[in-house]
Amino acid sequence: MNAILAPFSDPDHVARYADGPPRFVPGYASLHRMTAVLIAERVPPSGRILVLGAGGGLEMKALAEAEPGWTFDGVDPSAEMLALAERTLGAHAGRARLHQGYIDNGPEGPFDAATCLLTLHFLAADERRRTAMEIHRRLKPGAPFVAAHSSFPQSAADRALWLPRYTAFAIASGADPDQARNAQVSVEANLDLLSPEQDEAILREAGFSEVTPFYAAFTWRGWVAYA
Ligand SMILES: C[S@@+](CC[C@H](N)C(=O)[O-])C[C@H]1O[C@@H](n2cnc3c(N)ncnc32)[C@H](O)[C@@H]1O
Repeated sequence: MNAILAPFSDPDHVARYADGPPRFVPGYASLHRMTAVLIAERVPPSGRILVLGAGGGLEMKALAEAEPGWTFDGVDPSAEMLALAERTLGAHAGRARLHQGYIDNGPEGPFDAATCLLTLHFLAADERRRTAMEIHRRLKPGAPFVAAHSSFPQSAADRALWLPRYTAFAIASGADPDQARNAQVSVEANLDLLSPEQDEAILREAGFSEVTPFYAAFTWRGWVAYA
């Protein structure tokens, strides 16, 4: 397992997980609202949504609150993060089926929509492409897929500019300064980060069309694309 994924199986880290994304990802709550709006454009109130990297349950909770009829299949390799998702969902837990594993362990669908938030940057390019293809295969024709993760220009100069901004934003948002700096070191050492152009190409190669950026915030980008 990539060392950067180990905290998702550490009960102490998982217990604090929900504090992290709002501090490290500018506009995190708005990202959820935009995701719900983009899905609702094409998905009926009874829609069935595939959520890859569903650990923690934060996006499933936001989507469940946005549309009371949607149901979810959440897939994540971390049992601890799935247990947190169950707790986060609370009264909505009955609307989500949780599957421990990778995309291959998820149901075949067909789904009305899919999301993969703050997750695809953990996957090397080939596995990212394969995973996107497997998501595409599980969607109905024309169904929306919302992806958002770390993606920014990758020249040495751009990395030297943007990674400290990632850390500074987290500290300015209340993250522990040492933890934020350690997060940057871990990101630099362990992630195969791609540029937005490379990420968009992967989505197209996976079969998606109308690959449309809708979110850009420091080191983060989000796209909606259609199966
Ligand atoms: C930063 S968390 C994001 C969780 C959630 N999507 C959110 O926005 O709060 C990344 C999650 O991706 C999961 N993960 C790691 N590799 C994965 C893979 N190949 N497929 C699906 N999930 C994966 C981790 O276990 C972890 O729960």
